[in-house]
Amino acid sequence: MKKINRRVFLKTTAFTSTAAFASQLLQPYPINKQPQPIAGKPLAISSANGTKALEKAMGMIKDGADALDAVIAGVNIVEDDPEDTSVGYGGLPNEEGVVELDAAVMHGPSYRAGSVASLRNIKNPSKVARLVMERTDHVLIVGEGALKFAKAHGFKEETLLTDKAREAWLKWKENLSKEDDWLPPHTIEDKEIGEIYEKYLRHYGTIHCSAVDMQGNLSCVTTTSGLAYKIPGRVGDSPIIGAGLYCDNEVGSAGSTGRGEANLLNCSSVMIVEWMQQGKSPEEACLLACKRINERCREKRLKDDHGRFKHDVKFYAINKRGEYGSASIWSGGSYLIHDGTSVKKLESAYLFKRK
Ligand code: GLY
Repeated sequence: MKKINRRVFLKTTAFTSTAAFASQLLQPYPINKQPQPIAGKPLAISSANGTKALEKAMGMIKDGADALDAVIAGVNIVEDDPEDTSVGYGGLPNEEGVVELDAAVMHGPSYRAGSVASLRNIKNPSKVARLVMERTDHVLIVGEGALKFAKAHGFKEETLLTDKAREAWLKWKENLSKEDDWLPPHTIEDKEIGEIYEKYLRHYGTIHCSAVDMQGNLSCVTTTSGLAYKIPGRVGDSPIIGAGLYCDNEVGSAGSTGRGEANLLNCSSVMIVEWMQQGKSPEEACLLACKRINERCREKRLKDDHGRFKHDVKFYAINKRGEYGSASIWSGGSYLIHDGTSVKKLESAYLFKRK
């Protein structure tokens, strides 16, 4: 048998495998297996605080707007609303009483995204996130740099802390610890002063909105003041592409609200879109994300006596076929859908039933 010189063999196989690899690269990535968009059948989904956002977004979409313009204009209403203490102006502040906002946008047709984190004094972080996408070569800008960038684009600085949010922060601070010097009004008879009561517990509010426009294009936005009374500079999942939101124009769009730390460890939004790509319905994909968070958590402090993840994270998803769904770790969650006729409030699927 003729012996093959080792050097020739390596050269030949290297060439053959390089050629095979190159021809694989020439094959289009099979992203078009999903049915194509049903142009003219718009749809928008949001977290439960998004009624006005959906009405605005759907109005614009029906007038022919791009989904990204529509969802940003929608959530701007909630960012401007002093009564919503989880987003924008009136959002609950960090532990020093300063409001810090996070937001991100993703545009399906151009497959681009932009985001800002720990942004102070600018009430519409979603608009700044869009500018990061459109007017920089970056995806995420944070803190002082984000504020300077916003001001360079003409955004005006303003105080975001409302009296309502300041008073809530003060109550939290006054009840933080028995060992510190802050106390709420009390009498010498009060025994439990300084305890953290349920009503003062910190919360993770946020708004997410995803939409399909009349052209069948998808886009999404997530915007938040983040975890109430957080350590200054803390960034949650909302401005992180793949965690707080994700959109693939050929598949669907997803986003989240709730405990950002859990979602940051699992990058759930990109997982949901990938699961939809593999054929899961939006609701099934959202439930898989909840399951993954619960199963992967190893920290006992975050689990209840039955080993279940104690906190809640909610997911929202739509696909190109006009299907939608939502799921949360714990029962009792709801979400909103606008199918072009009206806003409907629906119950989210869940992993565990609350007592
Ligand atoms: N999901 C919002 C946050 O954790 O900041």
